[in-house]
Amino acid sequence: MPFYHKLGNIPHKRHIQFRKPDGSLYYEQLFGTIGFDGMSTNSYHEQRPTQVKAIKKQYSVAPKIAKSNNIQSYRLKGFQVKPENDYLESRKTILVNSDCAIVLAAPKESTKNYFYKNTDADELIFIHKGSGKLRTHLGNLDFKYGDYLLVPRGIIYKIDFNTEDNRLFIVESRRPIYTPKRYRNWFGQLLEHSPFCERDIRRPYELETNNESGDFLIKVKKQDDIIEMVYASHPFDVVGYDGYNYPYAFSIHDFEPITGRIHQPPPVHQTFETDAFVVCSFVPRLYDYHPQSIPAPYNHSNIDSDEVLYYVDGDFMSRNDIEAGHISLHPAGIPHGPHPGATERSIGKTKTDELAVMVDTFKPLKVTEEALKIADDSYYKSWLV
Ligand SMILES: [Fe+2]
Repeated sequence: MPFYHKLGNIPHKRHIQFRKPDGSLYYEQLFGTIGFDGMSTNSYHEQRPTQVKAIKKQYSVAPKIAKSNNIQSYRLKGFQVKPENDYLESRKTILVNSDCAIVLAAPKESTKNYFYKNTDADELIFIHKGSGKLRTHLGNLDFKYGDYLLVPRGIIYKIDFNTEDNRLFIVESRRPIYTPKRYRNWFGQLLEHSPFCERDIRRPYELETNNESGDFLIKVKKQDDIIEMVYASHPFDVVGYDGYNYPYAFSIHDFEPITGRIHQPPPVHQTFETDAFVVCSFVPRLYDYHPQSIPAPYNHSNIDSDEVLYYVDGDFMSRNDIEAGHISLHPAGIPHGPHPGATERSIGKTKTDELAVMVDTFKPLKVTEEALKIADDSYYKSWLV
């Protein structure tokens, strides 16, 4: 996140002696991104963060591809993904390309016996159902319905859920996820025309510092494998850190919509960007106010991007038969648009309660076997009258 954050105790200069009450040194770790050019954090640990004790099981979690080259529009029924106890096992990749993976998960249990670290990708976790606490080695974040949790790659975390009824929509991104550049000034501050600002971004507020030795299992994701690594010290042993690279939360309910006299294009809904895809938030808002406006979108051809829309809540005006938890995939190369009747139905409407998350990828998405299990195979014909 491009603004400074400090939590816990740190010395007054970086890379100098920082001593524990017993006179011994804390262990400093520079946690950098993009070599030494990207955002970084300096953290101070009770024990060396390098104490690998054993490397145990290694297994692939690479998604099984059902359709590599896809031009068919799909409707996927996200809530048909079955709840599973374990957080990692519950994660089902439905769409994927070399830049990102779109994942659905319905975990019933908190992570108890292991820590998790994704070294391949930043994780953007949208909370559709559930609440709890994201616990990381750089501090904790409470979460609830409507939150985006941004976990940069390499952050060690656990996730605690308050109940068993949880639904997550996750984007794993091999490219760093940032806020849109056009909303930031040359120092990174979010500008006045941005639909959200730093005040809406929740930073870790609570640091867990455990100075424990033993066997601590971290499930590390690397190159689509999970590697089980046992460390000799507790991964949450940071006494303080500062810098720019840390997890944060942003609620979709804090996104202030941009509206106009005529239909506004999807970029006004943009919330996050990478150089490989964008994420947009469609939130309750007033409709266009030109006397002859048509609130429904026009037909459009995303000739060079696949469009994934995850429907969260409210009434989805441009679609027939869409419910919460559904996903539409409109692939690059062919036009799509409102369903028959939706354009006429939208005229005269003054507002919408829809809530949805959109991911537009610049490379085509492959459809996985997990996606076909929850797919409506006839959706691509749904514009016929
Ligand atoms: Fe679209």
